[in-house]
Amino acid sequence: MPRIYNFSAGPAMMPQEVLEKARDEMLDWRGSGMSVMEMSHRGKEFISIAEQAEADLRELLAVPANYKVLFLQGGASCQFAMVPMNLLRGKAKADYINTGIWSDKAISEAKRYCDVNVAASAKDSKFTTIPARATWRLDPTAAYMHYTPNETIGGVEFHDIPDVGAVPLVADMSSTFLSRPMDVSKFAVIYAGAQKNMGPSGLTVVIVRDDLIGQTLPGTPSMFDYKIHTENGSMYNTPPTYGWYCAGLVFDWLKRGGGLKAMGATNKRKADKLYAAIDNSKFYSNPIDRSCRSLMNVPFILADANLDKTFVKEADAAGLVALAGHRSVGGMRASIYNAMPEEGVDALVAFMADFEKRHG
Ligand SMILES: Cc1ncc(COP(=O)(O)O)c(C=O)c1O
Repeated sequence: MPRIYNFSAGPAMMPQEVLEKARDEMLDWRGSGMSVMEMSHRGKEFISIAEQAEADLRELLAVPANYKVLFLQGGASCQFAMVPMNLLRGKAKADYINTGIWSDKAISEAKRYCDVNVAASAKDSKFTTIPARATWRLDPTAAYMHYTPNETIGGVEFHDIPDVGAVPLVADMSSTFLSRPMDVSKFAVIYAGAQKNMGPSGLTVVIVRDDLIGQTLPGTPSMFDYKIHTENGSMYNTPPTYGWYCAGLVFDWLKRGGGLKAMGATNKRKADKLYAAIDNSKFYSNPIDRSCRSLMNVPFILADANLDKTFVKEADAAGLVALAGHRSVGGMRASIYNAMPEEGVDALVAFMADFEKRHG
């Protein structure tokens, strides 16, 4: 069967070249006589894989030397707790911006550890906007300020890094990480689950400024302590070795494709095509304010919700899968991460036009 175009929000498509390379190396990684899955994480083979992956990620993002890069487990959801546990540093308050379901989850978890000041919320707009920076009620004594640069479910994305002064800025980059260049030095902590733009699920990358490490809340479990993971090179326990290896292949693929600048340009072109198809039709609509539309997750609504099931079924049959919107919002959502080829977006746009002609 030919490969389908998978618009899932995650786990999502992987670059075909990466899958082919992993297939070719499955039984015998570069003459080692074993699969990466079978390697000791402390053996010289896996250490070389791990080090190369970190070096490539650092190069792609130009990560400054005073930042640690951690390859962890537990998903972004685990970071919802690890961030307050590590960053409160004796303070009692943290700022959060609420732009949707994922910020909301981060807020709920942080409330277990500190007073959360929701400095701005887009709830009133049903999470279709980002509150203007001038309206944010930031607390200058907050230990950190957390936000979600891209809301995977709602399809809302910040296109600029907010200026929050001296307060450490923390970002849940799960669904926008590596989609374009970004200035790591503006952040205190960046975290992202792998299953959208990096590789298979099970791996979480955390980039943390080193002066913030080592002041965890009393009672913090070792596995939740950035210091323990830093001191052990992300090998305090057995790391997700195969996911780490796959992420390394993805970093290499990105580098060979021209890095994040080239990837960002392709992603912009893909998103522009899809939004143009939606905006130029009377049948499809996107509810998000144009200033903050996501380049990665594009929700759209059909003029007649009774056609939703037919749309999904026919799209499926055409090899365009996982287009149903998240169960909490309905409608459709096309996730077009790095590995979604431009031809996949072209095929979706053509299908949408044809569907509208037949059913609109
Ligand atoms: C923005 C965002 N944050 C957090 C999560 C949760 O990630 P995980 O399932 O890796 O814990 C997701 C998952 O889709 C997400 O999109």
